[in-house]
Amino acid sequence: MKQGYFITFEGPDGSGKTTISTKVYERLTKHDYRAIYTREPGGSRIAEKIRDIILDPSNTEMDVKTEALLYAASRRQHLVERILPHLANGDIVISDRFIDSSLAYQGVGRSIGIEAIWDINMFAIEGRVPDLTIFLDIDPELGLARINHRQFKDRLDQESLDFHQRVFSGYQLIKNQYQHRMAIFDATHTIEELTNEVYDYIIDWIARRESNTVD
Ligand code: TMP
Repeated sequence: MKQGYFITFEGPDGSGKTTISTKVYERLTKHDYRAIYTREPGGSRIAEKIRDIILDPSNTEMDVKTEALLYAASRRQHLVERILPHLANGDIVISDRFIDSSLAYQGVGRSIGIEAIWDINMFAIEGRVPDLTIFLDIDPELGLARINHRQFKDRLDQESLDFHQRVFSGYQLIKNQYQHRMAIFDATHTIEELTNEVYDYIIDWIARRESNTVD
């Protein structure tokens, strides 16, 4: 059977990834595309347990390398248990975040280095990078202002603006390095505009893939 497509959504906190990816997923299924929706960290029972440990605001003493390894561990479990079986079944897998989040947040935000994070993640995912990444671009200050009203802020949300600015600069590097699989959208557009723009892009990308005009 033909492999499905692995599509990830990336961007800083407050970029609207979860809202837009959910709406795009719903529209895909409404139009009879066979798709599943998932997220990271998490996406399977064990991976969600790891998520709880990583994001628990009371885990203030967590070492940055422990954090990076936990994200990679959660990703491995999610990939093996959920993503790969669905791709093998020919489904479109839409994931809210994947490896690029680790490269930006742990690699640059936590200053561990993109190469070291790439290496531990390659051990975890054995080269299964996304086929397409939808990147929602927004200035970190604006992104954080959008999520400021949230009652519950996880351990990462509570980080300084400085940290989020480093994450943003990490994302800029990654966007350039993996241009071949990145589609970049202005996250200041309205929810309706962005949903339309991203949905249309994905439909066109799939059509080009099916007619073999995309590498
Ligand atoms: P979420 O808010 O998109 O659910 O993600 C939870 C937080 O985890 C968010 O601040 C981004 C962060 N994160 C990383 O630092 N590294 C990763 O690999 C992933 C997937 C998320």
